[in-house]
Amino acid sequence: HLQPEQEAAHGVLSMQRCRMQGGSPGFKVALLGASGGIGQPLALLLKMDPLVSVLHLYDIVNTPGVTADLSHTDTSTIVRGFVGKDQLEASLVGMDLVIIPAGVPRKPGMTRDDLFNINAGIVRTLCEGVAKCCPNAVVHIISNPVNSTVPIAAEVFKRKGTYDPRRLIGVTTLDVVRANTFVAEVLGVDPRLVDVPVIGGHAGITILPLLSQVKPVYSLTKDEVTYLTKRIQNGGTEVVEAKAGSGSATLSMAYAAAKFADSTLRALRGEAGIIQCAFVPSQVTDLPYFASKVLLGRNGVEEVFPLGPLNEYEREGLAKLKMELKASIEKGITFVATQS
Ligand code: NAD
Ligand code: LMR
Repeated sequence: HLQPEQEAAHGVLSMQRCRMQGGSPGFKVALLGASGGIGQPLALLLKMDPLVSVLHLYDIVNTPGVTADLSHTDTSTIVRGFVGKDQLEASLVGMDLVIIPAGVPRKPGMTRDDLFNINAGIVRTLCEGVAKCCPNAVVHIISNPVNSTVPIAAEVFKRKGTYDPRRLIGVTTLDVVRANTFVAEVLGVDPRLVDVPVIGGHAGITILPLLSQVKPVYSLTKDEVTYLTKRIQNGGTEVVEAKAGSGSATLSMAYAAAKFADSTLRALRGEAGIIQCAFVPSQVTDLPYFASKVLLGRNGVEEVFPLGPLNEYEREGLAKLKMELKASIEKGITFVATQS
């Protein structure tokens, strides 16, 4: 490990190198849960992102090894490792973006809500660190159940007086990535050409793809719509079952999280017109959090877009998902309210 002054010198040199190459100095990003199934490939993808100038890897185990390994890749991003709860705060000071995939994943037969008892406390502790050390950072929540962990994060920030709804985002990009892939497969087109909005939340029937709003405009039969909706809603479980007890989606999630992080950083840098679906504090329905298309900008979420015209099938799906989503949101809020 480098001494702090050596590290600082290394940082300055890397910044200078970055500038000499004509790039902007980039952003500081912390990844909490960096040694895990998502954490490791996501760390690699973030280190390859030219917009990330400093990458902090925090976990309760194994970050020295992951950091040593990653630090040998010849990209200009500076990577530093932090291990154990005593180093959480150091990992967070000065960060622009904090990405949280810390927590346990599902095994076959479990719902995402079955992870609540363990992951709720993890997310609360990590967000307390964010509130203390980088209250202005944008926070991406990946840890499940997202429908509850995002409200938990919000309640922590409210308690600490640092809450800004524009800077708290639940990552649902994997639902969009899956939807694009499965729709493209049915249509026999390149998935990169397809854009499917996915609204609601991130669990089972709360995941609602709006197949009537697929871009470019394609026509799908009723059977195709039913098949695709179910497959997109069940995408996580499909992976959990295939992994047969060794975890849930990690590679596709790392891909999705890196895509969403890059979009956020481009928007923070000032790029206009960056629109993504995400689970955010929202007023587009009567629920306080909802996934829909949002405009990202210099302050995080600048605008939450309404759902647009829904067909009858989608209206039914929306009515059905609201009860489950409401209960998951309330469970998160109550969790923080009942803690001292
Ligand atoms: P994993 O078990 O492989 O990795 C989790 C990591 O978190 C481990 O390295 C562990 O040491 C670390 N961790 C545990 N407690 C911690 C703490 N207090 N502070 C910091 N780190 C801590 O799991 P994974 O496959 O990487 O999944 C992580 C989470 O992401 C799960 O909750 C999973 O359900 C969720 N997930 C969400 C999505 C999504 O679309 N939002 C997709 C896939 C997985
Ligand atoms: C996913 O959608 O893959 C994640 O939420 C993980 C899971 O438990 O399904």
